[in-house]
Amino acid sequence: MAKQATVLHPKGGGNDDIDIESIFNALATTIVVIDADDVIVHVNAAGEQFLQGSANFLKGRQLKELMPYDNPLFSLITQVRRDGLAVSEYGVTLESPRIGRNLVNLQVAPLLDIPGVVALTLQQRSIADKIDRQLTHRGAARSVTAMAAMLAHEVKNPLSGIRGAAQLLEQNATPDDRGLTTLIREEADRICDLVDRMDVFSDLSPLKRDAVNIHQVLDRVMQLAKNGFGKHLRYITNFDPSLPPVLGHRDQLVQVFLNLIKNAAEAAPHKGGEITLETSYQQGVRFAVPGTGALIHLPLLVSIKDNGDGIPDDIMHCLFDPFVTTKPQGSGLGLALVAKIIGDHGGVIECDSMAKRTEFRIMLPMADKSATTEADKSATTEAEGKAQ
Ligand SMILES: Nc1ncnc2c1ncn2[C@@H]1O[C@H](COP(=O)(O)OP(=O)(O)OP(=O)(O)O)[C@@H](O)[C@H]1O
Ligand SMILES: [Mg+2]
Repeated sequence: MAKQATVLHPKGGGNDDIDIESIFNALATTIVVIDADDVIVHVNAAGEQFLQGSANFLKGRQLKELMPYDNPLFSLITQVRRDGLAVSEYGVTLESPRIGRNLVNLQVAPLLDIPGVVALTLQQRSIADKIDRQLTHRGAARSVTAMAAMLAHEVKNPLSGIRGAAQLLEQNATPDDRGLTTLIREEADRICDLVDRMDVFSDLSPLKRDAVNIHQVLDRVMQLAKNGFGKHLRYITNFDPSLPPVLGHRDQLVQVFLNLIKNAAEAAPHKGGEITLETSYQQGVRFAVPGTGALIHLPLLVSIKDNGDGIPDDIMHCLFDPFVTTKPQGSGLGLALVAKIIGDHGGVIECDSMAKRTEFRIMLPMADKSATTEADKSATTEAEGKAQ
């Protein structure tokens, strides 16, 4: 197979000592390349382990000998050959007597130079778990929505009764007791304030979205940070100037990035603290919505990194849930709101964290040509100045 020799065993360009084959074999991710007839033509060492067979045994075999033909993997392959675009799908179960049951993230990419040849990348459980987590954030946001609606009815109304009663008592109270009635009033006000902050979650009206220049949003948020809570930090930006506009709601996106940058600023060390903001375009990558067969194109990537101590392991699994906080004065609503807004935009948010490097990645849809541009929209927004 000449094609196989040229494409699948190339030497590293410019450095003959580096063999691409050994790089493939060093990766923990399974890589399988199939030809136009679904015959395996290449498999790396991780793939040998995943498919429970040596490369010699696997090469030349039909993929469907190893995986059940009704697996969504095959429809993705067909689609990738048809459209010539890479597709990712999170949380696919691959099951067969040979490989057992595996939850994986799949990426299927065409080798554009050779028609029909497709590279499959499979990431197993531990990485898939991480992604799973971010997909469940939508669920978290939904439960916040229901709770916010409940709070408004069940908590706010009785609270105003309690507050009124405390005020009445205050009129005839002894100076000693007055301290207590004031306490009741102030605490009632504090709870009311919290419920008001939750109000934004119960807003179920469809989002009105326009073409938004994400760099203007990020510049605005950075300006707020530099002049307020994040004065002491260094900001590094790496923006792709050719990025097309996002299909989004400007004020809500300001709120999202304000919350994320505020968290980054709170996590970064006081001395030597850094926040890195990056934007890029992810060519041809689409996300399959699990269970629906629908594909969403989320090409716009915004990344926010800080060099703080990282997110504590014990809250990683519920990071986007409401009221999860490690801060004495935190409400734990910041990331819950981020998850809700990104979900409303049809976007995806991922998080990776380790000491000295915490990164939030937001993927958003692109505005089509018919969307109105908000470039000239007034710079003031409701969200500005206050992170939720
Ligand atoms: N960049 C980060 N680095 C380290 N930990 C983080 C980071 N972002 C979030 N966290 C952790 O996630 C928790 C939840 O964040 P979230 O923004 O939802 O609430 P909060 O910041 O605690 O409170 P609030 O946003 O209401 O002020 C934080 O308390 C913190 O422990
Ligand atoms: Mg926060």
